[in-house]
Amino acid sequence: MLVDAGLDDRLRDAIAFVAAQVRRTVERYPGVYVMYTRSGRWSEPGAPWSHGWLPGLLWLLHGATDDPWFREQAERYTWPLEPRKLDPSTHDLGFLFLSTFARWHQLTGDPVLRDVVVTAGRTMASRFQPAGEYLCAATGPQSLFVDIMMNVGIVLYAARATGDEALRDIALRHCRTTRRVLVRGDGSVAHEGVFDPATGEFLRQSMQQGYRADSCWARGLAWSLYGFAAAYRDTGERALLDTAELNADYFVEHVPADGVPPWDFRAPAAERAQRDSSAAAVVASGLLELAPLASSSAKAELYRLIACRILDTLAGPPYLARGDDDWEGVLKHGTYHHSKRLGVDESLIWGDHYFVEAVAKLAQLRKETP
Ligand code: GLY
Repeated sequence: MLVDAGLDDRLRDAIAFVAAQVRRTVERYPGVYVMYTRSGRWSEPGAPWSHGWLPGLLWLLHGATDDPWFREQAERYTWPLEPRKLDPSTHDLGFLFLSTFARWHQLTGDPVLRDVVVTAGRTMASRFQPAGEYLCAATGPQSLFVDIMMNVGIVLYAARATGDEALRDIALRHCRTTRRVLVRGDGSVAHEGVFDPATGEFLRQSMQQGYRADSCWARGLAWSLYGFAAAYRDTGERALLDTAELNADYFVEHVPADGVPPWDFRAPAAERAQRDSSAAAVVASGLLELAPLASSSAKAELYRLIACRILDTLAGPPYLARGDDDWEGVLKHGTYHHSKRLGVDESLIWGDHYFVEAVAKLAQLRKETP
């Protein structure tokens, strides 16, 4: 793989910065599950759906540094999530448990940890709407969000662990419905699909966090790209790979040269100046998932190159918060919820998490194919 020789060093330095920054956060706000900053400060606890990423980041930093302190903290923040395995109020159980208990189980093989993830996977599967064939969003049975593509993996995890074919079937039906109603022919995505839950009739595309129903919210595209790639990895269903590649093509064609997208690709020009570094981090990790699965070696090489481009950008100014001692997050210039003005031009915990995940994946790929 062709990577600028200096990139490895820059990423190593960046991870050292992340480790110091996250340690400072945990020491300053012990036990708090941070979500997005306000003027660079983790000033309040995050919403319950976001509680998986800080422990997920601690697990990743343990892997990257081998420092037992990160392992202790990862366990400390992971265990309190256990009762949420039965939480029917969120569609984000994949975010919550695949970043935490699944990583812990991978390290130890303890079946108790695996069973927590399996139970969460069954809870997630209970969101299935048989008429429309999708896992519904927290907003109600009529609603399908593109973000759920990043959470459907927990249903596949439970299917694999238990051999329960019904779970696999639910997950695949969800993926196929998402592809049919949310992914457009040019590879862009809608955030939300609205159904008649009684008949299953698809009514319209809609949005929650993007600019408009017919726009392309950058993080939604990122969740779709990564989610379809992971679902293809777990199922081998070719249409899912085609969908992830279609999303990747859209991203590559429309993203600015530095690899960091505007918060919505189709927002008016003046609003597109606001970027979303977290979407870039998710895409980098998603492209590194997709590259080894890609349908051609040319695509695989392109995906790796774009991922490297993104990481190179994020590892320096103006994105990496290094040098700004008052800033508590890792990546600046994320956008959580533009229209509600929440977490706009701030650090977002999932951006920091997927940045480290992507760097770890790149390091692994470099080991396998130096
Ligand atoms: N709702 C998940 C996100 O903000 O990406």
